[in-house]
Amino acid sequence: SSSEKLDLIVQKIRPFPDFPTAGVVFRDICPLLKDPKALAAVTDLFEEHVRQKHPEVRLIVGLDARGFLFGPLLAQRLGIGFALVRKKGKLPGPTVSVAYSLEYGAAEAEIQEDAVEPGQKVLLIDDLLATGGTLYAACELMKKQQAEVLGCLVVIELKDLKGAERLKSCPVFSLVQY
Ligand code: PRP
Ligand code: ADE
Repeated sequence: SSSEKLDLIVQKIRPFPDFPTAGVVFRDICPLLKDPKALAAVTDLFEEHVRQKHPEVRLIVGLDARGFLFGPLLAQRLGIGFALVRKKGKLPGPTVSVAYSLEYGAAEAEIQEDAVEPGQKVLLIDDLLATGGTLYAACELMKKQQAEVLGCLVVIELKDLKGAERLKSCPVFSLVQY
């Protein structure tokens, strides 16, 4: 059942206090990736949500780096493609980019100009929502590309940091909340 799958997932998320900086509790997903049943449960729950709420989606867009772990699995289940939003300087050819800040730093996100079609219906995916800086930047990139963002999918949402409020124009679906 869905709640059994959620239990499997929750058990495999490991907290590390004061990583990478003092005051941050890092939510480590490595045990989740190591357990094939837990990893399949993540894809199952995302697939169920998308089939119910966003059957019109045509592309999954994953965020560097940990969005790449979950996005392609989901895209394959749905029979649609996957595109990468990367940290600046990693992608060849014409790109568009946008700067952003996150829970413990700053960065610049970039996508290839031809990764998304104008008007294409996309879902963004990442492992975790903290301040929302990263997903907000990805939404900005999608706006520049004239893509239609249906929503954001994350495994983990850190509620205290109010990332979902920052992404107000874009509904967030999370599996586990802290
Ligand atoms: C982490 C995480 C999210 C982002 C969330 O990535 O995987 O992408 O931070 O934080 P925010 O909501 O405050 O923006 P990080 O930039 O550490 O990079 P990594 O995936 O390459 O480890
Ligand atoms: N990315 C931003 N904040 C994080 C946290 N607390 N744990 C894991 N990844 C993160």
